Amino acid sequence: MKPVIAICPGSFDPVTNGHLDLIERAAKIFDKLIVSVLRNQEKEPLFDLEERLEMLREVLRAYPNVEVDSFAGLLMEYARQKQARVILRGIRAVSDYEYELQMALMNRKLEPQVETVFMLPGEAYSYLSSRLVREVARLGGSLKGLVPAIVEERLRVKIG
Ligand code: PNS
Repeated sequence: MKPVIAICPGSFDPVTNGHLDLIERAAKIFDKLIVSVLRNQEKEPLFDLEERLEMLREVLRAYPNVEVDSFAGLLMEYARQKQARVILRGIRAVSDYEYELQMALMNRKLEPQVETVFMLPGEAYSYLSSRLVREVARLGGSLKGLVPAIVEERLRVKIG
């Protein structure tokens, strides 16, 4: 059997404890997990690509089978390049499902050899998103337990 390589794609602006929970679960299942940040997004990110990669590398250092990378263009093209057979996505609530279903089916149409695998993050993170983290940080609320300490610190520096 060939090793199973999975890609966990996303914006990670910034990485949250919900992402980490999912990555930790997936790292136990797949031989190799590539956490990959989408480059050149239309929306203006809070953290630039290099900052997002730095934070991911720092918090994922302890996982020997997890690699941090970035990609541009079609995810399925990138999966082909990386010889990945799986795309990993987290589903928090029913509201995530419709968007995820559309993406998974479009990706399957583009590359039938690659399977999208959905996993559930811990229930404690079911309401957590990078967008809400940015908003709470902007408004001066506490993010304790929701993002890694280094991300909390970076948010403080960035937003003030
Ligand atoms: O963290 P996000 O923002 O929900 O991640 C979205 C992501 C990066 C998975 C998605 O935007 C993506 O895969 N973009 C790559 C472009 C692509 O392949 N589009 C066609 C397939 S739907």
